[in-house]
Amino acid sequence: MLRNMTAMPGDRVLSGIQPSGDVHIGNYLGALRNWVVDQDAHDAFYVIVDLHALTLDIDPAELRRRTFGLAATLFAVGLDPARCTLFVQSHVHEHTGLTWLLECTTTMGELRRMTQFKDKAAGRDSVRVGLFTYPVLQAADILLYDATRVPVGEDQRQHLELARDVAIRFNNRYGTTFTVPEAAVPKVGARVMDLAHPENKMSKSATSPNGTVNVFDTPDEIRRKVRRAVTDTGSAVAYDPVTKPGVSNLLDLLAAATGGSPQELAGSFDRYGPLKDAVAEALIELLRPVWKRREELDDDPAAVHGALARGAERAGDVAAATLARAREAMGLLPGKR
Ligand code: TYM
Repeated sequence: MLRNMTAMPGDRVLSGIQPSGDVHIGNYLGALRNWVVDQDAHDAFYVIVDLHALTLDIDPAELRRRTFGLAATLFAVGLDPARCTLFVQSHVHEHTGLTWLLECTTTMGELRRMTQFKDKAAGRDSVRVGLFTYPVLQAADILLYDATRVPVGEDQRQHLELARDVAIRFNNRYGTTFTVPEAAVPKVGARVMDLAHPENKMSKSATSPNGTVNVFDTPDEIRRKVRRAVTDTGSAVAYDPVTKPGVSNLLDLLAAATGGSPQELAGSFDRYGPLKDAVAEALIELLRPVWKRREELDDDPAAVHGALARGAERAGDVAAATLARAREAMGLLPGKR
């Protein structure tokens, strides 16, 4: 069997992505392409977190469509069901089962400190309870699989810290039950900024369509968005994320796409125009193989559904054993169902 051939015992990767909007190059460079690498070196579990997407309002038909589309996208970027376990969160009921046990191990103060909660709740009249407890569900995603390594972009660091704290507290109170995970944040591409507002990270929320390069934008759309990217005052191409966030973001993108360092790349350009052209073409070349694989998968939806069903079955076996351990540790009476 191909799977796990090079994985060390106890060397488990888990990561997740929400089906809440189009996948953009921030997701790709910050997380997904590392998921593809990790599937060969580790026993890797990847989860499409549809339950997390319910924390903000989303149309039911759209959620269904996006969940399926995201699965096809993840296979298109290079995840291979023979080398990793990809599944949909709501297909494995243990995620919600463990969440309750962890909610009884987490404090209100810890959740109130989460910056993503503060950002997402800001300016809303009514905030769903699930948005507040979102990081606990994320901790359950991770702890159910005894993950040691969690490949994520920079914005998920705080959630990872919480998952670690909850695991450590649970183990101290109830006996060693969970593996304490570590975040794996890449050196380049961990925080891709919005092209139109380089002070904000690129995000799926669709509030800045011109600043967000989606994985399935056409080459012309990519060229247009990169050409219109906000640059900084002055015309020198220099890498300084504080005083030149726009140009530095373009250099980071080029470095992430081509493998160079942003400081060195800055020396290769004396004007913004050629830098932008180079960024657009590098992104197009990076994404071209993904577009081709996605076309093939769109012709075969049954293959995607089949792979997700097998993924949920494998994930469910691991998750059920962990949840049983946690239930027992907390003193819940064993039951038949
Ligand atoms: P999500 O769906 O927002 O993003 C998926 C992954 O993409 C990374 N990312 C970025 N990386 C670089 N630059 C950006 N602008 C950028 N935007 C997003 C994210 O860091 C993430 O790695 N809460 C998580 C999903 C989740 C999860 C988990 C992750 C649920 N359970 C368990 C890890 C483990 C989220 O909303 O990611």
